[in-house]
Amino acid sequence: CLWVRNLRLKRRLPGPFAWPVVGNAMQLGQMPHITFARLAKKYGNVYQIRLGCSDVVVLNGDRAIRQALIQHSTEFAGRPNFVSFQMISGGRSVTFNNYSKQWKAHRKIAQSSLRAFSSANSQTKKAFEQHVTDEAMELVKVFLRKSTDRRYFDPVHEFKVAAANIMCALCFGMRYGHDDLEFRTLLQRVDKFGETVGAGSLVDVMPWLQSFPNPVRSVYEDFKNLNEEFFAFVKDKVVQHRESFTPEVTRDMSDAIISVIEHGEDSGLTKEFVEATVTDLIGAGQETMSTAMLWIVLLLVKYPDQQTKLQELIDKVVGPDRLPAVEDRSSLAYVDAFIYETMRFTSFVPVTIPHSTTSDVTIEGLHIPKDTVVFINQWSVNHDPQMWKDPHVFDPTRFLNENGALDRDKTNSVMIFSTGKRRCIGHQIAKVQVFLFTAILLHQCRIESDPSHPPTLDCSYGLSLKPLTFCVSTKLRGKLLGLVS
Ligand code: HEM
Repeated sequence: CLWVRNLRLKRRLPGPFAWPVVGNAMQLGQMPHITFARLAKKYGNVYQIRLGCSDVVVLNGDRAIRQALIQHSTEFAGRPNFVSFQMISGGRSVTFNNYSKQWKAHRKIAQSSLRAFSSANSQTKKAFEQHVTDEAMELVKVFLRKSTDRRYFDPVHEFKVAAANIMCALCFGMRYGHDDLEFRTLLQRVDKFGETVGAGSLVDVMPWLQSFPNPVRSVYEDFKNLNEEFFAFVKDKVVQHRESFTPEVTRDMSDAIISVIEHGEDSGLTKEFVEATVTDLIGAGQETMSTAMLWIVLLLVKYPDQQTKLQELIDKVVGPDRLPAVEDRSSLAYVDAFIYETMRFTSFVPVTIPHSTTSDVTIEGLHIPKDTVVFINQWSVNHDPQMWKDPHVFDPTRFLNENGALDRDKTNSVMIFSTGKRRCIGHQIAKVQVFLFTAILLHQCRIESDPSHPPTLDCSYGLSLKPLTFCVSTKLRGKLLGLVS
């Protein structure tokens, strides 16, 4: 039956010849998203590859991707039943579980709790912005300290701590110091997460490799351990919240989620979904946000003229006596243009988390059966020469109209948070965070790269593309403002 299905699939979808056993696994290369875009030139925007024992349909280009994720949103809303996905958040992840009635209820709860603590009304908006500003200023101080005597340092861990702290502040009402060794070690371990769940990772499509002592097996073991460790860390905090919970006072997001799942109308979710939701939110917010900030800093030091231009604008709009705030956003369109260009140019989440089809579906005239794994190549949308002039050139001005304001058609065309039913639920808070971090860093510091190691765009592949190690030094511009209360 499987053979007949596969034969049918092969006849209907174009794609490269697949070798026995490994399929096309050995042809993916170091940067699978570039390989996928190259294959699209030959086979079209919808084609099939084979990875180990899985048929995978790869979607490329703006038209095919939006047709699938928006017009056929339900059919493309599934997740594959990969073994690794079940190791995440105690097997109850909203991000990595398949489409179902229960999943819909779970996603709704995650979304509404996040909104309640970030954008529900002007008061929560202000409180959220204050968290982010405090965390950005803490980062500025750490950067300046690490730059004493013109020393250069690798900013990677500091960004991880800062991003995780914003989520910890929302979820637990607490933050960790940059020197907290236990917290740093945990975050360092979690860093490996994206290598296993990124599209093109082989552990799930070649399950037999687990039976032999080999590097893939150890990736699996490590992945299982790091997820258990991270889940245990979150669960411990949630248990403390549960013990001191009172329905009258909602202290933070953990309380809000406990309240809905354990004390609200029957959501169909057991209490274990509380810790799963919090684990998902902290994990998702941490990895992507810190990667975004690393790329921004890398591009600021790679293009010092852009940095100068941004700082001149911020000085003019904000002045030296206060910090940039969200209200300045419309006057700082160039800051957002720089951020959008960073997201487009690097496409640092190049392929979304793997999707799967929830029923048979036809896309661009091609039939895709139910339960097929689908890779969505966001990079190909952001580098489509039909949409972007010179897509390989870094040029923030492409996002500005003739009045110097943001061109909304252009910004909406960047694909980094995916779209449709699986669209990132943190996209709004992520944009606020990246804006405030970037504007505050630029307002407070001049950032320079180590002249003996000029920054390059080389990176490693996974769920997110991570720049290779680079070092910077920061210099205070004007006076240090807004100390953490
Ligand atoms: C999913 C990008 C920040 C929570 C995703 C996906 C992408 C993405 C590409 C996968 C969508 C798909 O599979 O089609 C990003 C980027 C971020 C960011 C680029 C920062 C710049 C955040 C933050 C949070 C968050 C701050 C939460 C606090 C989630 C969740 C999902 C998700 C829960 C799973 C959605 C689902 O499967 O239904 N994100 N994200 N993300 N993101 Fe984000």
